[in-house]
Amino acid sequence: MTTEDSTQRRQIAALEAKRTRALAPAGESANEKQHARGKRTARERIAALVDPESFVELDMFAVHRSTAFGLDEREFLGDGVVTGRATVSGRQVFLFSQDFTVLGGSLGEVFAEKICKVMDLAVTTGSPLIGINDSGGARIQEGVVSLGGYAEIFWRNVQASGVVPQLSLIAGPCAGGAVYSPAITDFTIMVEGISQMFITGPEIIKTVTGEDVTFEELGGAYTHATKSGVTDLIAADEDEMVEQAQRLLSFIPQNNLDDGPRYAVQDDPQRLCPELDDLIPDAPSKPYDIKTAIVSVVDDGDFFELGELHAANIVIGFGRIGGGTIGIVANQPKVMAGVLDIASSIKAARFVRFCDAFNIPLLTFVDVPGFLPGTSQEYGGIIKHGAKLLYAFAEATVPKITVITRKAYGGAYDVMASKHIRADYNVAWPTAEIAVMGAAGAVKTIFRREIADAADPAAREAELIADYERRFANPFIAASRGYVDDVIEASRTRRAVSRALRMLADKRVERPKRKHGNIPL
Ligand code: HXC
Repeated sequence: MTTEDSTQRRQIAALEAKRTRALAPAGESANEKQHARGKRTARERIAALVDPESFVELDMFAVHRSTAFGLDEREFLGDGVVTGRATVSGRQVFLFSQDFTVLGGSLGEVFAEKICKVMDLAVTTGSPLIGINDSGGARIQEGVVSLGGYAEIFWRNVQASGVVPQLSLIAGPCAGGAVYSPAITDFTIMVEGISQMFITGPEIIKTVTGEDVTFEELGGAYTHATKSGVTDLIAADEDEMVEQAQRLLSFIPQNNLDDGPRYAVQDDPQRLCPELDDLIPDAPSKPYDIKTAIVSVVDDGDFFELGELHAANIVIGFGRIGGGTIGIVANQPKVMAGVLDIASSIKAARFVRFCDAFNIPLLTFVDVPGFLPGTSQEYGGIIKHGAKLLYAFAEATVPKITVITRKAYGGAYDVMASKHIRADYNVAWPTAEIAVMGAAGAVKTIFRREIADAADPAAREAELIADYERRFANPFIAASRGYVDDVIEASRTRRAVSRALRMLADKRVERPKRKHGNIPL
């Protein structure tokens, strides 16, 4: 008997043939159809994302158990989702990639079990979980079993929240209840033109509300990046989606017990930023771009912004100082004067909670005139939503460093990582104005009668404003009480933050035992 004829060799050949079939479970023509839609296949997506040769696939031969609606006649190896482990820049991740070529990537019992397996492994090994979504939703033929499968995934998303980072890459449709898995995960990336997320599609909307809306207008990447804020990042194409996911991973730790990646950098942490001493305009109402300060302060000017197109009156994102990651939250005077409103409070609060859960120190830049007035804000619940940000900063126990660049007025002063809600190191630039409100509003409120009775009301008002500005529009009253730890030249900000990070590196906080707090949701 030759070696080729042995039973074992024949079994190996059969295995190879089966494996080849599993690589294109719906056939090569289905892969071509996927390409014609302008999309990569599930396996191509994994290959683009992970280190070469690092992917270890699980459950390649899993098949559905359904017999309804003719499914007993159709077998798809892998059941429409590719799952496994890989490394990205040498760091382990678990991932699943939904295969639209198999029954539209729809989720049935076995499909869900495969995802649950990698989710469990991600948690037990302390590795990030990445889901690549491209699916028509619940597999209609499998009925309630597929709804159960979704709920098993949602439950695991919740259990994993704050334990391992979870990323959702949306690379196709993601509709109905299916959107709730990405919604629970920490970060979402959508691709323009091919990604859509919505609870109910255009047809149902037309029937129920009479509105006419296209898929793209309703749930496309741009819609969710601007209007809803559901996605943190949008990519022009799948290549950019992969780059963004890799870059995001480079900033975040493997799990909640990990200190996070640390990079060797040439940029001296003691470096001065002289350009910042000319950043603040003379006129208090004149805008400037807070990102100039952020980019000056972080290592090599490398700032990775999230949620850039939504609630742009607050800026959030990651940077590094001394090679270690920091989370940055900053009011943006360039947009709506940096005011806090519902959308910006929610956006920043969720980011603060991510950083706190994953041991990432927070650097907050403050230039805030207050909360946005108006009935739409009040009726929309600014009280509750603004409180989210207050709550998130107050409960965060990671090192918190605050830099007041200009205005810190009213309740927004308290909310924006003030000393009183336990920020650790607070500094102000000499341009800081820390007060209950701006001079014009303050004078109008407390001197209304005096101004009305004056011989020249306008002159008296100007005089009172000038006096208020001289006495209150500065950082020294706060400094005299220790509400800011120091007043520093803007140019010294990087140095001050870097020293504070070293000072706080071993910060430990014991909190009272409780099941969990009750954040105003
Ligand atoms: C089974 C499905 C499917 C599904 C698509 N397919 N969705 N099979 N269950 N949910 C199949 C199609 O029959 C087709 O099979 C193949 O996938 C490709 O679908 P097409 O319609 O040809 O593709 P396209 O034109 O690109 O449209 C994609 C789509 C559309 C927009 C996703 O297929 C669609 O609207 N599907 C239904 C979406 C839906 O209503 N899902 C349920 C949502 S509710 P063949 O064999 O012809 O290639 C939900 C609840 C989740 O998901 C609850 C969680 C708690």
